[in-house]
Amino acid sequence: MRPIPLTRYLATRSRLVDRALDRFLPRATAKPSTVHKAMRYSLFAGGKRMRPVLTLAAAEACGGKIERALPAASAVECIHTYSLIHDDLPCMDDDDLRRGRPTNHKVFGEGIAVLAGDALLTIAFEILAQAAPTPRYSIAAQIRELADAAGSRWLIGGQIADLEGEGRKLTGAELRYIHRCKTAALLTSSLRLGAMSANATPAQLKAITAFGQNLGLAFQVIDDILDVTQTTEKLGKTAGKDIAATKATFPAIYGLEKSRAEARKLTAAAHTALKPLREKATRLREIADYLLAREY
Ligand code: IPE
Ligand code: IPE
Ligand code: MG
Ligand code: MG
Ligand code: MG
Repeated sequence: MRPIPLTRYLATRSRLVDRALDRFLPRATAKPSTVHKAMRYSLFAGGKRMRPVLTLAAAEACGGKIERALPAASAVECIHTYSLIHDDLPCMDDDDLRRGRPTNHKVFGEGIAVLAGDALLTIAFEILAQAAPTPRYSIAAQIRELADAAGSRWLIGGQIADLEGEGRKLTGAELRYIHRCKTAALLTSSLRLGAMSANATPAQLKAITAFGQNLGLAFQVIDDILDVTQTTEKLGKTAGKDIAATKATFPAIYGLEKSRAEARKLTAAAHTALKPLREKATRLREIADYLLAREY
């Protein structure tokens, strides 16, 4: 059987994730409806769903079933969406546009946006607790995996360093630290949770982890590049914000050409990491190439 093209694969997988999220989230009418509306507003605003799709693809690459990975996939998208709602707040990046729509706080006000983010962060763990344990990975181990990536040592730590880096000239090492923490950690964890749902062997988990670390860093380098090179319309978020906010980014430190070369290098390293998984990881390789070429 010929495999389906990647674009169709991505579309069908995102649809699966959307349906799972819709099942896991309280209805918009459930009390208190303001917060449930606000959670759903950002969650179903048309994100690319790359992290949950990576969760499902990692499960497949380790010989597992995607259905078993759906709770973890939904959980990582909830964490990601919460991080975007908070990232956009006036006290952080102060953005008006996200996923092609006015940001959460622009529609619901800052108080509700903070709380909708809090609620998405919390429900992520409620959802992940509904995953099945596997012989190698207990539910506690899976929950700890996500809590670590989303916590103060990684995602939140990266956001802190990102804020503290505004207006300062950082070294390449400092910039890499920010990007590894704020973006690569959750992306890696998304893949690892998929692998765990498939009861991955230690060797498989190691390969998936190294893939995620390289792909995750590449992902943020590309995000930095797109902020400079793309239009607001295409991105669905305000272009040129990083320079305006004097953010530490790859193009700001290295220029566009070197940043592009770095993204290519990291993607190549991501490919190399997948060698032990052989042809089972074909989709992951395709996704890495797709993300390198992305324009939004
Ligand atoms: C944006 O992530 C924030 C980063 C960590 C770079 P995405 O580019 O995955 O955003 P959505 O989910 O598609 O909106
Ligand atoms: C966002 O990084 C990282 C997290 C939300 C954890 P950015 O601030 O670069 O993301 P965008 O460009 O606003 O999507
Ligand atoms: Mg930010
Ligand atoms: Mg931002
Ligand atoms: Mg950005």
